[in-house]
Amino acid sequence: MKNDFRQKLHLEPKSGWINDPNGLCYFKGEYHVYYQYSPDSPSGSGRKCWGHWKSPDLISWRSTGTVLFPDTPEDKDGVYSGCGFVKGDTLYLFYTGNVKEDGDHDYITSGRGANVILVTTKNGHDMSPKKILLRNSDYPAECSCHVRDPKVWEEDGRYHMVLGARTLQDIGCVLHYVSDDLENWTFLEKYTADDMGYMWECPDEFTIDGHRFLSISPQGLVHGKYDNQNVYSSGHYCMENGGLTDFTEWDKGFDFYAPQSFEAPDGRRILLGWEGIGDIPYTNPTVELGWQHCLTLPRELTVSDDGKILQNPVRELESLRKDAALINSGDTVEISLPFDLAAKAAGDIKVRFDNVLQFVSCGGESRLEFLDDSAGCGRDVRYAHIPELRDIRIIADKASVEVYINGGETVMSARMYPEETEITLSAEGISGTLYELNGIEVITDE
Ligand code: FRU
Repeated sequence: MKNDFRQKLHLEPKSGWINDPNGLCYFKGEYHVYYQYSPDSPSGSGRKCWGHWKSPDLISWRSTGTVLFPDTPEDKDGVYSGCGFVKGDTLYLFYTGNVKEDGDHDYITSGRGANVILVTTKNGHDMSPKKILLRNSDYPAECSCHVRDPKVWEEDGRYHMVLGARTLQDIGCVLHYVSDDLENWTFLEKYTADDMGYMWECPDEFTIDGHRFLSISPQGLVHGKYDNQNVYSSGHYCMENGGLTDFTEWDKGFDFYAPQSFEAPDGRRILLGWEGIGDIPYTNPTVELGWQHCLTLPRELTVSDDGKILQNPVRELESLRKDAALINSGDTVEISLPFDLAAKAAGDIKVRFDNVLQFVSCGGESRLEFLDDSAGCGRDVRYAHIPELRDIRIIADKASVEVYINGGETVMSARMYPEETEITLSAEGISGTLYELNGIEVITDE
């Protein structure tokens, strides 16, 4: 069947552009996923709003449409990214109101307002009036106008907020504020690190099993063969002993940025990212069809014995499996998108989708490589240094692929645009199970 590039597993808009996941939370029996939404254009121009999906089980979703618009002087140029915080029967949504002033400005050191704004909701989509909590004058004097993306949590009897920022010296950092009432915030401290770019976006601080992490999306890193291969990066630091150590990228593929995490009611920490990046040198042909970008699959985060974050697709997605077939080294099988391949590996491996792309692991180096530019649209190859490849899970949707390696130690994600939804999959060096998948359900409130 000809591929219409409509995703079956990944949340995406019917029309327009989406970027970062926002406001992730579990509230009144449902998961809530808000997102940066430009309804006016698939290229992202026009109004920047928040859209909203919700689900009882991460499988059946309902879209309640656009829930926050840039309709006040304090957010007139964008309802930018932010978070959700649940207290009692109320969901508090904190976001950045972006303002661009008229005049001759560089919009870095002058001309831009970045306001932390609060709205509350009792049902997830009807919002209270907007309340301005912080303005540029409330940020440390060393900051440029780029301060944004609040993430709030409660700990030790106080509320905490982190904001991403760029200093006037072009150093990326995180600002940490504290509050006793969620409305009055006091600056506590700044986190930064050497040689980590000019701007840190979308910070997220959280603990898993006693291990503390800070996630950031830094811009301006030096690109290497195995590290920071994309225009902008995204990764997490360990925060043991007050310092930031061991920056590890969330995803070594082509399309991943601005992730956010939240805690599920059963204590799982779940992460979703934007399966896209700004200012990329490659393209997405869905633009001509009226929409662009999707979110990643929800990923459960756990910590390995040696303190590293492992990412795996949430187990709910296994309920979508049907038609299992065993797959062994040397096999070539026909399969329809979407599918899920879970396999053990021994030594060098190669998993190839037709002439579309291949995942190859050989001599300690893994690579996700497009074989055909009409499917890659400018994407070529991304590398990961993986000394020993033990297992692999590949979830392929109609227009993207996520490769989970070694129990989720490394993930590589990419948008892909094969012409047909039937794929000839050939495998070398692996043995496992290949499942065809049902899709998630997304209902849209009219
Ligand atoms: C990250 C980001 C955020 C900002 C939002 C605007 O992709 O640049 O820093 O709040 O997107 O859409």
